[in-house]
Amino acid sequence: MSSADDADALYAAAFAAMEHAYAPYSQFRVGAALRSADGSLAVGCNVENSAFPAGICAERAALAAAVAHGNQAFSLLVVVTEAAEPTPPCGLCRQALVEFAPDLSIVSATVNGGRASWTLRELLAQPFTPASLTHS
Ligand code: THU
Repeated sequence: MSSADDADALYAAAFAAMEHAYAPYSQFRVGAALRSADGSLAVGCNVENSAFPAGICAERAALAAAVAHGNQAFSLLVVVTEAAEPTPPCGLCRQALVEFAPDLSIVSATVNGGRASWTLRELLAQPFTPASLTHS
């Protein structure tokens, strides 16, 4: 399957997850689907909280689900929103993702057919990684 076909497959999963988003405060629903190196798929949605900082983004929810299923290597992330334009993952999610997948491809789609794509390297050019913790 080409990566464009795979993005289409992940779009459906991310869209379904978006419909389960809990976003009563922002009204900004997000779904994410993450393809693991072994071919499996994990999804996540944003889950907000009345104590606002306790909320979690869709991308980190998908990442946590994938890791809980035993996956730590990822090839493609698809994010779906109802925004006017495709939106990239927030900075916190970029940092969470780079821990596992510095070469990740990211596609952001809107429900109106908008698409944008980036590599995580483009979005987080100078990452703090596990190697950064090396002492001199
Ligand atoms: N959100 C995500 O789920 N992913 C992002 O990359 C950006 C923002 C969520 C967090 C919050 O629930 C809502 O969207 C508005 O910021």
